[in-house]
Amino acid sequence: MGSYFKDHTSRSIEELVSLKGKCSVVTGGASGIGAGIVKRLAEAGSSVVVADLNLEQAENTSKEISEITGAKVIARKADVSDSLSLVEVVETCRKDFGSLDIWVNNAGIFPTTGPAIEAKDSFVDKMLEVNVRGTFAGSREAALHMDSGGVIINLASTQGLTGGPGISAYTASKHAVVGLTKSLAIELAPKGIRVVAVAPGVIDTPGVQDQLEPLKEAGIDISTITSNSLMGRAGVPDDIARVVLFLASDLADWITGATIPVDAGKLAG
Ligand SMILES: NC(=O)c1ccc[n+]([C@@H]2O[C@H](COP(=O)([O-])OP(=O)(O)OC[C@H]3O[C@@H](n4cnc5c(N)ncnc54)[C@H](O)[C@@H]3O)[C@@H](O)[C@H]2O)c1
Repeated sequence: MGSYFKDHTSRSIEELVSLKGKCSVVTGGASGIGAGIVKRLAEAGSSVVVADLNLEQAENTSKEISEITGAKVIARKADVSDSLSLVEVVETCRKDFGSLDIWVNNAGIFPTTGPAIEAKDSFVDKMLEVNVRGTFAGSREAALHMDSGGVIINLASTQGLTGGPGISAYTASKHAVVGLTKSLAIELAPKGIRVVAVAPGVIDTPGVQDQLEPLKEAGIDISTITSNSLMGRAGVPDDIARVVLFLASDLADWITGATIPVDAGKLAG
């Protein structure tokens, strides 16, 4: 363990935050929070593989971020519920960039469950398949190939730390992500791999906008939902991306197993 975790006291802030020479993978990185994360990791100097179901969107995002940051950002089609496609992403990272250092399990789905007593098994299965098994498989494939240590960052949710009506399947899936983060952190520390999670509050993304569509159609002012926070504004992807960058960098070298709420005080009471 001593060979992986070092005393950084004498290093500059620039050095500590730099991800130069590293390769990151962001699942679901084509849009929303994932795209925000890709941009911040690339800005810090990491090469990034954007692994997403939607290849066209992933290619557009990669091109745009590569042009802005000057970093190497490439797109790969991947479905986190298909382990084989994740193995191919790992191979891309290692072949094209020589290493795998940071893996962000961001891809997730959040359809509203409705009353739990009406939820179908197939609905619950799908939620767990993508949000839990996808995070599990991504972490496993990453850990197998992080030869010089690394960081795995999971997207949990404030719903992984509390309950709520109408979203029981999603809540169960995100509590599982929080638990998985703790267990993997314990197992992987001897390999020099930190495992952490962020728990976002409501962030205005294409996925959230889709969920709110029925409310918009019913004439409900959805800004009351998206901006329901102590900071008086809706969360945006970069609010999460900046924290993910911190966790990915050596600034956070003594954080593992933790889930960090990034929710503008939603959980404060
Ligand atoms: N937006 C929020 O308010 C919020 C709050 C808490 C947690 N989260 C979590 O953050 C993550 C990202 O959320 P978002 O709002 O940006 O979502 P989004 O729906 O806006 O974007 C999700 C991206 O993931 C991709 N994707 C979906 N299923 C995939 C799969 N099986 N394999 C690979 N890619 C897949 C989509 O193509 C899309 O590019 C999710 O895990 C979500 O649960 C979001």
